[in-house]
Amino acid sequence: MRTKIKDILLSDKLDYEVVVKGWVRSFRNNQFIALNDGSIIDNVQVVINDNSDEALLKNIQTGAALSIEGKVIASQGKGQKVEIVATKVDILGGCDPEQFPLQAKNRPSLEYLREIAHLRFRTNVFGAVFRVRNSIAFSIHKFFNEKGFVYLHTPIVTASDAEGAGEMFRVTTLPFDNPPRKEDGTIDFSEDFFGKSTNLTVSGQLEAELAAMALGEVYTFGPTFRAENSNTARHLAEFWMVEPEVAFNDLQDNMNLAEEFMQYVIKYVLDNNKEDLAFLQERLINEEKQKPANERSEMTLLEKLNFVVENKFERITYTEAIDILLQSKPYQKKQFKYEVSWGIDLQSEHERFLVEKHFKKPVIVTDYPKDIKAFYMRLNDDGKTVAAMDILAPGIGEIVGGSQREERLEVLESRMNDMHIPLEEMYWYLDSRRFGTAPHAGFGLGFERMVLFITGMTNIRDVIPFPRTPGNAAF
Ligand code: 4AD
Ligand code: MG
Repeated sequence: MRTKIKDILLSDKLDYEVVVKGWVRSFRNNQFIALNDGSIIDNVQVVINDNSDEALLKNIQTGAALSIEGKVIASQGKGQKVEIVATKVDILGGCDPEQFPLQAKNRPSLEYLREIAHLRFRTNVFGAVFRVRNSIAFSIHKFFNEKGFVYLHTPIVTASDAEGAGEMFRVTTLPFDNPPRKEDGTIDFSEDFFGKSTNLTVSGQLEAELAAMALGEVYTFGPTFRAENSNTARHLAEFWMVEPEVAFNDLQDNMNLAEEFMQYVIKYVLDNNKEDLAFLQERLINEEKQKPANERSEMTLLEKLNFVVENKFERITYTEAIDILLQSKPYQKKQFKYEVSWGIDLQSEHERFLVEKHFKKPVIVTDYPKDIKAFYMRLNDDGKTVAAMDILAPGIGEIVGGSQREERLEVLESRMNDMHIPLEEMYWYLDSRRFGTAPHAGFGLGFERMVLFITGMTNIRDVIPFPRTPGNAAF
């Protein structure tokens, strides 16, 4: 039976026989192997006292897979509490040092590692990131499960554009060199696989709303696709989104749920990924040494995460946010690139000012102008704004987008007409307002943006195993 390295390193037990299996991170003086099996960021030191088998020693190369039998003893050297004295070493898979790009002595950049994303799991940083990503995913299910939410699987192939932004990837089996055409020359999608034009989903919200109108509290957690051509450190073409939807909730309830949810997930990672977070914190400190002093974070990663867990988020309306921006130094010194006036969509520079400079904590902005938000958001009594809420996080910008939904059939229909959304095609959505409509609210958390926030990584391509971005679908 194989023992995991994590169990050996985190236990005080000594003087027992084990079998460990893992990959060589380094081999020094023909005697000391640093072995890692992915269960924990730290390596276990394996000591080889018998160096008579030269062929074997030659094959213990960085990257090789080994199986080791030996005894766990108190470490003779500094730097670790325990080590394994090997009695038997088997090479499961060798690794040619001339060809393997991840040698212990090199410190490959994150940019370079993106080009070899199929191998980057084998570095400390990606091991830590993906263990933390796993904990975040698990704690999301745990949170909603403990609250009695139903996990709902919404479709990936759909005929609707939930956000109305037209940023969809088409799904079709029609031949693109010679598609069937209607008399007017346009493509005849009635001959397509689903008998209509379909695309990859941009959100599971509309379907989640239908289920919430019977199950009460539901959430989706799945892949989402957006063909927006934004090559930024915060956008992916394929990302994961968590979307709770709750019957009878209003905007206040929605904000409370989102805040409690984010704090719960962060707390879970703080409690369960101590070694990974300690490593990621050191990494961030080293990375920030390259930056000018005024651009470095004021808090360490752990201080930031603890701060967010322990403090209430700031809550302001969009109108208040615009007033703060208009009175800000960067506005008055003309340092913002984009204009500021009531009605604009907040740009990343504005969001960052509010969160990082003004409030220095997560901020929930509510009641945005209706013209910059989706059709399903509930119209406020002023007739100008909607019951929207975005959560802005330090270093990230928008991490959550949500709203109370428009539950009044006539108001919803009139907004859809204004926005040229075909009512007939959306009859199934409108039925939820025809049959027992009720106030309800929900939000979407960008899963990778949450992973960025918790790991302190700066590029979204580095927190998803195989990033999909414009021009890139390798591996
Ligand atoms: O604000 P968005 O577009 O909201 C919705 O899709 C709603 N249907 C959610 C709801 O109310 N159920 O997206 C929600 C979140 C954003 O706040 C952002 O964190 C993330 O999804 N997001 C992206 N993450 C990575 N790459 C992209 N291209 C993203 N677009 C949105
Ligand atoms: Mg949004």
